[in-house]
Amino acid sequence: MKKYIAIALIATGTAAFAHSGVKDPDVMNRMMGMSELAKQMKVIGSMHMGQASFDAAAVNAALEKIAEEASYIPSLFETKALDPKSEALPVIWDDFEAFTARAEALQSTAAGLAGSVESSGDLMQVMHEIGQSCSACHSDFRSK
Ligand code: HEC
Repeated sequence: MKKYIAIALIATGTAAFAHSGVKDPDVMNRMMGMSELAKQMKVIGSMHMGQASFDAAAVNAALEKIAEEASYIPSLFETKALDPKSEALPVIWDDFEAFTARAEALQSTAAGLAGSVESSGDLMQVMHEIGQSCSACHSDFRSK
């Protein structure tokens, strides 16, 4: 799982630059995983905002990718690693079970929605449900 992210990191030099200064490889890997989630959300969000034309297949593919990325979250955070640039709260490792449950919630929400999107009218619900899964974890386990 971690290897997969590391390969993505090598392939996307620009994204690596955005996190320059992060020295810990575990911290870097999990930030890359989060960036991938944000990238997929942007695909859906830009259609929702009317900045891109609606493409049901692309939305469903993004949801599948989100579900897949979400399944990597527990392994990406398994090692307690801190970095001055990290926004991860130490409580993650005090209550790793609750943290994992949040990742699973995102995974099942995204997997449940994947394949269901048929019209641009479905995007509001998708943005809402996925967005809530992201922020449910961020509000407890991320410093900002
Ligand atoms: C299970 C918990 C959890 C879930 C679910 C989650 N995140 Fe995160 N996210 C975190 C934590 C913890 C950090 C801080 C990581 C760090 O700085 O070391 C973070 C950081 C981020 C960052 C900043 C990454 C960086 O480069 O510093 C982005 C962007 C992000 N998340 C997007 C998302 C999106 C979009 C979703 C939903 C599709 C999501 N996250 C779902 C826990 C989660």
